[in-house]
Amino acid sequence: MFSAVLQGTNRLRLCATSCWLLADARCYEVRFGMTTPSSTGTNLRVLLANRPKAEPRVEDFELLEAPIPDPRNNEVLVRTIYLSIDPYMRGRIRATKSYAAPVAIGEVMVGGIVGEVVESKSERFKVGDIVESRLGWQQYGIAQPDDLRMVYPELAPITTALGILGMPGQTAYFGLLDVGRPRPDETVLVSAASGAVGGVVGQIARLKGCRAIGIVGSAAKREYALSELGYEAVIDRTIDDVGAELSATCPDGVDVYFDNVGGHILDLVLDHINLHARIAICGMISEYNLPTPELAVRPTRTLLTRRARMQGLLVSDYADRADEALQQLGGWVRSGALKYREDVIEGLEHAPAALIRVLRGENFGKQLVKVGADPT
Ligand SMILES: NC(=O)c1ccc[n+]([C@@H]2O[C@H](COP(=O)([O-])OP(=O)(O)OC[C@H]3O[C@@H](n4cnc5c(N)ncnc54)[C@H](OP(=O)(O)O)[C@@H]3O)[C@@H](O)[C@H]2O)c1
Repeated sequence: MFSAVLQGTNRLRLCATSCWLLADARCYEVRFGMTTPSSTGTNLRVLLANRPKAEPRVEDFELLEAPIPDPRNNEVLVRTIYLSIDPYMRGRIRATKSYAAPVAIGEVMVGGIVGEVVESKSERFKVGDIVESRLGWQQYGIAQPDDLRMVYPELAPITTALGILGMPGQTAYFGLLDVGRPRPDETVLVSAASGAVGGVVGQIARLKGCRAIGIVGSAAKREYALSELGYEAVIDRTIDDVGAELSATCPDGVDVYFDNVGGHILDLVLDHINLHARIAICGMISEYNLPTPELAVRPTRTLLTRRARMQGLLVSDYADRADEALQQLGGWVRSGALKYREDVIEGLEHAPAALIRVLRGENFGKQLVKVGADPT
């Protein structure tokens, strides 16, 4: 449970124990993790307060109360229902620019949301529409119509627009099929294999006739990956000798490695890759909190001798093919061929804790924060 401490007008600093939010002489009760906003129309937002050097802390974020903004001509006011928590957010709170600019200190944290249109000055959206957008860690946001995607609750639960039918699902689809290029009977190895991306990768690999082998971070995830996601074998990185288990579960080597974690697991996997293997570099979450990069063995000799390909991928490069992925993934979800799991925390004020737990591997499925009532 978290509380917020008054820090000047309307400023609330997150800290770790009690359960009242005080601001502007108003009182917000945090009960069972939910913040109940006043009826005067305020917009609770979470801002970046400090740049963490290693693991982020709750105190690196700040709760700020602001008025609900008014949409101008052609704009839409959206009330957030679910916020997506994703590993890339760790990169955005670093000062260094990577493929996207960092969040500035004092700025609302970036993030994808699913929400409800509550006011519209656009002909393209009406009050009550459910939409997906990138409005960040706040209860209300203003969007341009081009930045909104319609979500159809009658087709799938609206949470899926942030998971299996959203950015993570598309990452799995394009990363495996375009970069990994698996062929039937090949061995496809996936790290963070039960997560938002990895869980989809393993299942698509199986649908394509491959042997899917997973690496996960707990016994419960291992059991789920075997029984629900259909992996043929799953290694628990927290108790198994990963190198020895790779020899045992991949006796004929690894043809495709879908890498979500980087670090020493990638080093171990490289010892097992086959001739012409494909290594899809999707993420390196085990390295995201490191203050300085680790020294590691150069992979070039292995890549050369095995004539293997290691290729980075960014889901945003596939934006013009998003419909293709959504049609295929949606069909598989509706037919029951693809399963998914979500891990939902209640209350916007818990978004920092949710990010911290994803970076520790404590989430079990797609990490979401429920920010407001779900009308669907
Ligand atoms: N390139 C792209 O366009 C793109 C798009 C989306 C995501 N990604 C990347 O894909 C990866 C997975 O993202 P996701 O959204 O699907 O998250 P996720 O798998 O649902 O959650 C993150 C998982 O990473 C694993 N993990 C955390 N710390 C770890 C550590 N120190 N060592 C090894 N594993 C650790 C944990 O799984 P276990 O406990 O099971 O190991 C944790 O549950 C991330 O690296 C992310 O940055 C890339």
